[in-house]
Amino acid sequence: MKVFVVHSTFVSLLAWITLTFALPQAGSGTVTAKARAATSTARSNTAAKAAGKLYFGSATDNPFLDEDATYKAILSDNTLFGQLSPENAMKWDATEPEQGVFTFTNGDVIVALAQANGQIMRGHNTVWGSQLPSWVSDSGFDNATLISVMQNHVSTVIGHYKGQIWDVVNEPFNDDGTLASNVFFETIGPTYIDLALQAARAADPDAKLYINDFNIEGEGVKATAMANLVSDLKSRGIPIDGIGLESHFILGEVPTTLQAQMEAFTALGVEVAVTELDIRMTLPETDALLAQQQTDFQNVVSACTAVADCVGVTVWEYTDKYSWVPSTFAGQGDADPWDENLEMKPAYDGIIAGFSS
Ligand code: G3I
Repeated sequence: MKVFVVHSTFVSLLAWITLTFALPQAGSGTVTAKARAATSTARSNTAAKAAGKLYFGSATDNPFLDEDATYKAILSDNTLFGQLSPENAMKWDATEPEQGVFTFTNGDVIVALAQANGQIMRGHNTVWGSQLPSWVSDSGFDNATLISVMQNHVSTVIGHYKGQIWDVVNEPFNDDGTLASNVFFETIGPTYIDLALQAARAADPDAKLYINDFNIEGEGVKATAMANLVSDLKSRGIPIDGIGLESHFILGEVPTTLQAQMEAFTALGVEVAVTELDIRMTLPETDALLAQQQTDFQNVVSACTAVADCVGVTVWEYTDKYSWVPSTFAGQGDADPWDENLEMKPAYDGIIAGFSS
């Protein structure tokens, strides 16, 4: 017992020293514990619904759910989050690692969580050039065989996860608006998109079918290419219900044409959603960067609020603790509205203000 007392006193002393000397102080231009906190008491999913949206949601991944009860508890609060996206659990390498061998275990965990919490699921994703098992990407399948393999994958996965919104085709474009090279495009040609969407509709007539991409959030050649594709699909009777705007933004660079671009997409007769929002900064954080991030989050959410057929906003992980950003962009991060201690940041206030605009 005595050991514990000594230990706990030592820990308290260490904490005091850390808080007193290690944290940069107010007015220093760097971040303080106080300045980092959100002030809003409103709830993000409640605010989204009050704005007429279906949800405010977050991506999530199984390792974090398994290991972090506090993270899971916050994610499970449906006043905060009304929708979940599987960050990796429903991708091809996870669901069909060997040909014809389907593993739904991780995805099922996320669906069960969403159902228990009364949250909507967005499925992500069935046909993408990345995160493919080598039996698909390096197979050398001929045209007819790969069509059959792809149709079987789409129909089995979407058939298993019925009643969801689905990113059926993910990231089909290059930034110049041409179709991206991947095994499906190279082997089947552009019609792989038609065939994937048709297989999805056949597997679940009630699913909402999306094409999802990045750098289509503002006006430009890539957004125009997406609009042309969707327009063409609709004119030929290929099923398509929505366009996903990923929205992995750089601080201070949210496109000023975001709302106009959403309106251009919805004018084609589809819905849109912000599917993977995060806004990364060059580290370290400062009060000024956090304030800019608050403004940026507000601008994105305001754009969705203003467009009737923008159905919801999903952040690509709600917390900096589990963001994909730092491992991909050296020196950048803190892109999410909750910090690494699972505390709400000023960006959260931006989200609430955006749904109230
Ligand atoms: O599953 C393996 C595991 O077996 C291995 O031990 C471990 C070692 O690094 O890697 C694990 O795979 C990782 C996987 O996430 C699952 O954790 C990959 O290395 C890692 O690259 C992969 O990153 C994901 C990335 O997509 C892959 O492209 C990110 O978590 C995920 O957030 C990110 O999400 C994408 C969207 O799907 C599409 N839009 C862009 C977005 C951000 O890149």
